[in-house]
Amino acid sequence: MNILAELRQRLRHALESVCDDPDAWCGLVKPAQDPKFGDYQANCAMPLAKRLGANPRELAAKIVAALDIADVCDVPEIAGPGFINLRLRPDFLEREANRVCSDERLGVPAATNPKRIVVDFSAPNVAKPMHVGHLRSTVIGDALYRILGFLGHHVVGDNHVGDWGTQFGMIIFGYKHFLDQAAFARNSVAELARLYRLVNQLSDYHDLREALPAQRAEQARRRDQLQAAEAAPPPADKPALDARKKELKRLHADLAALAEEITAAERKLAAVEADAALAAVAAAHPTIASAAREETARLHAGDPGNLALWRQFIAPCLAAIQTMYDRLEIHFDMTQGESFYQPFLAEVVAELSNRGIARESDGAVCVFVPGATAPFIIRKSDGAFTYATTDLATIAWRVRELRADTILYVVDARQADHFKLLFATAELWGYRDVELRHISFGTILGDDKRPFKTRSGDVVGLESLLDQAVVEARRVVDDGASEDTGESGTAFDAASRDRIAEVVGLGAVKYADLSQNRESDYVFSWEKMLAKTGDTATYMQYACARVGGIFRKAGVERGDVRRQAGAIRLTNPPERELARQLLRYSEALEQAAAEYRPNFLTQYLFDTANCFSRFFESRECAVLKAETEDLRTSRLLLCDLTARILSHGLSLLGIHTLDRM
Ligand code: ARG
Repeated sequence: MNILAELRQRLRHALESVCDDPDAWCGLVKPAQDPKFGDYQANCAMPLAKRLGANPRELAAKIVAALDIADVCDVPEIAGPGFINLRLRPDFLEREANRVCSDERLGVPAATNPKRIVVDFSAPNVAKPMHVGHLRSTVIGDALYRILGFLGHHVVGDNHVGDWGTQFGMIIFGYKHFLDQAAFARNSVAELARLYRLVNQLSDYHDLREALPAQRAEQARRRDQLQAAEAAPPPADKPALDARKKELKRLHADLAALAEEITAAERKLAAVEADAALAAVAAAHPTIASAAREETARLHAGDPGNLALWRQFIAPCLAAIQTMYDRLEIHFDMTQGESFYQPFLAEVVAELSNRGIARESDGAVCVFVPGATAPFIIRKSDGAFTYATTDLATIAWRVRELRADTILYVVDARQADHFKLLFATAELWGYRDVELRHISFGTILGDDKRPFKTRSGDVVGLESLLDQAVVEARRVVDDGASEDTGESGTAFDAASRDRIAEVVGLGAVKYADLSQNRESDYVFSWEKMLAKTGDTATYMQYACARVGGIFRKAGVERGDVRRQAGAIRLTNPPERELARQLLRYSEALEQAAAEYRPNFLTQYLFDTANCFSRFFESRECAVLKAETEDLRTSRLLLCDLTARILSHGLSLLGIHTLDRM
């Protein structure tokens, strides 16, 4: 049972007798902030009294009188200006705890109105190796996919891979000019990645070289401007002085940013020029960027040669990203990338044009969304369709073929403008019944608070990141002689330790990401994410292993305790607190699903692990040395239920637990 939902329902009934819009107010039952206010608190009397022109305490009394809740709560208490404090009855808590104990679904009801939800996540541009930037969409999308699926919705995980973009023109150009046959035969994906990097580097080289004189001129201009501003006599009054200070600061910052850009460009140019062979290749291909673009255009126009190459490249590229998904245990129901939608694009443009939703502007076809500053370009002036066109065709397909009620786009916050225009255009187009949501997330930062890079300034490859996670975890596991779980790192053979390190390492990386408010940026830190106490997967994995250890010491199987006679009995505060927390699993999942935020689940799991520690460490709650056999069984059941919920919750985040570590 979702207790919060139940209380809201009961309150709704009570409110029917005092107002005509009870739905608007019953949501004001919240978990109490402080145990002295009970377990839940209803805050509706004050605002409702204001609206009705009544006395809030009197209104609260009226609501309480109408509240049919005696089987769930003690007599409600009215506090302060009219808060209604609700305390769960001990027998209710006990009964529910025992019910959850024997429930496969751990007290989480399945949705009564299941929705069809497409989760569009991960979606890397293939033919480039996956990097740390792909982690968030993959991990957040997977968690939402699992949570929504467990709640009973029909979810479709779709990996909308970028398999039709300009990177293919680069690779085709590279293949035609720079292929290392032997390397390609050995490892096609690595060779394609090399070709991509090479063509990219050479295009960059020429672009940067061309742009540099103008940038230097701009630098000189800004320097003069700054000097002039500094030389001007200071204004007499304070506001003007402040404004001037601010202006100087801005000029300084602009100049510094430009200088940094120029230095980076110079470094890139030097890297090419320092390598005689590379410099010669660069000199031989001055128009490489446009040549690569032409290859893309030929591919999109259906050139048989380029199409054959594309087909030859795509399979190994998809296989390469699949190894990453296998390792992370990410499952998609479909991988339907951009290329799939190509046959539909002309029609999308025709339809939007015919219906007057899109129109021509400077040779391009655009949708001008009311209130938006930029147009949504669905066909460029050279005739090419865009990312936007593909996304529109994708919505049409998902609604038509999958009958989607909701589509979640788990994509970087930097694409917010794209999705705003996309959703607005879809609405103009008539897609009003499908809920379209950008599940936006921030950037992973390094120690320097800038986007996470390797020491040499390259993007961090996903594979090497996961490898390192396991190495770091191995260190924790090896010195992890854990008194808590009764095991020690050295007690395991090497294969077990490898397995533990893999589970701990990957769990740490996923959890660190999922426990953030997804919209914020966060700093990547091995030390923090692998801490054995704190809001980490490691902490909770140890809590589960600790339960495993208790049962080993007790000499009982966990499943047996559940099957035997015996029940949870709540005899003192730490037990009560733990049971109440365990009964809130469903609330946490509902909340995570309602806002598409896995961090509500991680917060719940962290609170649960903390509750468990308080229970386990309290003198009053000895488990193995419990006062009576009944109490021992009761506490073992609480331990078991805690571990089941922690494990299950982590599994919804794509994280494993172990019975011993
Ligand atoms: N491939 C895109 C990128 O790497 C992300 C695609 C997200 N999904 C979508 N339907 N636009 O930026």
